[in-house]
Amino acid sequence: MKFFIDTADTTEIRNAAEIGILDGVTTNPSLIAKSGRAFKDVILEICELVDGPVSAEVTATDYEGMVREGREFAGWAENIVVKIPLTREGLKACKTLTDEGIGVNVTLCFSTNQALLAARAGATYISPFIGRLDDLGQSGMDLIEEIVAAYANYPEIHTQVLVASIRHPRHVSEAALLGAHVATVPFGVIDKMFNHPLTDIGLEKFLKDWEKVPQG
Ligand code: E4P
Repeated sequence: MKFFIDTADTTEIRNAAEIGILDGVTTNPSLIAKSGRAFKDVILEICELVDGPVSAEVTATDYEGMVREGREFAGWAENIVVKIPLTREGLKACKTLTDEGIGVNVTLCFSTNQALLAARAGATYISPFIGRLDDLGQSGMDLIEEIVAAYANYPEIHTQVLVASIRHPRHVSEAALLGAHVATVPFGVIDKMFNHPLTDIGLEKFLKDWEKVPQG
C-alpha cells in the first residue's frame, strides 16, 4: 500500500519525505486555509518537495469551472492530480479531464455506488472518507471493504482506492488488510505508526547490554 500525507503543511511534508516513506500528498480547501498561505504557492512548493502525485482540489462547483480549474492546475507541475468532488458535475468533469490525460482524484465519496460511478468516469483515485463515516456511527472500513471487493470483480477498473479521513493507526493497517491501494494519512498518525513500547524497551536493553561487551 502506498502512503500519501494528508496536509498542506510543508514542514510536515518535508519531515515525512526525509524519512523516505512518502509516495504523494493530498490537500483540500480546509487544509490550504489552515496553512495560511496562497493556494498556488503552497501547491507549487509541495510539488517540488515530492515526486509523487499531489492532489489540488477545485473549488468551482459547475462542470465548466471544474474543467477550467483542473486544466490550469495540471499545467502547474507534472505531478498534479486534480481533486474533484463526487457530484454529477464533478464526474462529468472527471471524464473530460481523464480523457485529456489529466489525473483525477474523486473526493467526498461515502458509498459504493458513488465509487462505481467514479470508476466509470475514469477516476485515477477514489477517496472514501472513513473517519467522517465513523463519526456518524457507521463503519468507514466496511465501505473500503465493499469498494475493494466491487472493483476486484472488474479487471477493466483501474481506479485506485485511496483511503481518506484517517483518524488513527488502526485505520491504516485495516486499509492495508483490505487491499486498499493508498492511504492518505495525517502527519500525527504517521508519527504514531512508528511507535511501539516494546521497541523502546528492547532498544534500551540492547544498548545497556552492549555496555558490558569488552571493547577490543
Ligand atoms: C482527503 O483527501 C481529505 O483531505 C481528508 O482525508 C479529509 O479528512 P478529514 O475528515 O479529517 O477532514
